Amino acid sequence: MKKSYLDYVLRVRVPITIFVILASFTLTYFASRAERDGVGYTPVQPINFSHKLHAGQMKIDCQYCHTGVEKSRHAMVPAVSTCMNCHTIARKDRPEIKKLTLYYERGIALPWKRVHRVPDFVYFNHSVHVDAGIDCSSCHGDVRNMDRIGQMNSFTMGACLDCHRNAHEKLPYLKNIKNGPDDCWACHR
Ligand code: HEC
Ligand code: HEC
Ligand code: HEC
Ligand code: HEC
Ligand code: HEC
Repeated sequence: MKKSYLDYVLRVRVPITIFVILASFTLTYFASRAERDGVGYTPVQPINFSHKLHAGQMKIDCQYCHTGVEKSRHAMVPAVSTCMNCHTIARKDRPEIKKLTLYYERGIALPWKRVHRVPDFVYFNHSVHVDAGIDCSSCHGDVRNMDRIGQMNSFTMGACLDCHRNAHEKLPYLKNIKNGPDDCWACHR
């Protein structure tokens, strides 16, 4: 009796327990990856908008849509009305543009999925970086070649500091770039 119970524990219970522990660890590890450090995070968006087409082929300036980059903390994602400057005419017979027009007519903001995000306790400011001459691609990669946008670089504290302490190496195209701050209050204010 006792022996067969032990046998059951060893052959059935123990492997199942180990499996469950491993499986839940693996699941939480990968499921929380995007939130911890979203490198590679490339979500499907509600409208199949392509940067490669608009910013690459058509060469529309980043700032035409991301109006905040030189003036404010946030780059900002454009309202549907910005798209409609062109799409009341351009390709209005296409399914994706019909969908876009529906959002516009109903006055509903597009629920774009946010790709890059630093935690609330971190202070990041686009204008300081962009006005210093740092190109979008140094942080966001080659957006002009992306059909769907994804996170290319890490934005952990280590990654911010790595550039702040070695700015001349990380930004070889800027001859007179100063290092960024590395005191705690600069980024945690
Ligand atoms: C015609 C408008 C338009 C232009 C031009 C444009 N973008 Fe965007 N951008 C968007 C929209 C809309 C989104 C949100 C949807 C998405 O992620 O695809 C976005 C998202 C982004 C994001 C991700 C934002 C997030 O959620 O973290 C980055 C980074 C970005 N754009 C960079 C650029 C850069 C760099 C350029 C210039 C090379 C550029 N964009 C040009 C409209 C535009
Ligand atoms: C400056 C004009 C302009 C703006 C602003 C613009 N687009 Fe476009 N877009 C075009 C043109 C022109 C095409 C067709 C390009 C081609 O097929 O060669 C196009 C193509 C598209 C397509 C592909 C349609 C298809 O299936 O063929 C989508 C989706 C799209 N745009 C979404 C958007 C969204 C979303 C925005 C706003 C964030 C936006 N566009 C802003 C000019 C613009
Ligand atoms: C020094 C690195 C850096 C540079 C340079 C940079 N970005 Fe960003 N970008 C970030 C970080 C970090 C975030 C996340 C910010 C947050 O969560 O508040 C972000 C977020 C964004 C977003 C999401 C919306 C928002 O307002 O936060 C867009 C759009 C964007 N960047 C576009 C651009 C464009 C366009 C340029 C070039 C004109 C640019 N970025 C230059 C680091 C950078
Ligand atoms: C590619 C290089 C690079 C990356 C990546 C980068 N920075 Fe910077 N940052 C700089 C440089 C260079 C300066 C100094 C600009 C100047 O003084 O003109 C700066 C300045 C700053 C400042 C000072 C702004 C002010 O108001 O005085 C803050 C805050 C800051 N960065 C936060 C961040 C945070 C947070 C991240 C990561 C999410 C980050 N930076 C990523 C290069 C970078
Ligand atoms: C250049 C910007 C920058 C500077 C300077 C900086 N931090 Fe951070 N810090 C960040 C970012 C971005 C995060 C969030 C991303 C992460 O967890 O790595 C963070 C996260 C943290 C966290 C949370 C840790 C965690 O794992 O979530 C603590 C604690 C912290 N910082 C303390 C400090 C202290 C203490 C200093 C000064 C010695 C400092 N930071 C300087 C950008 C910075």
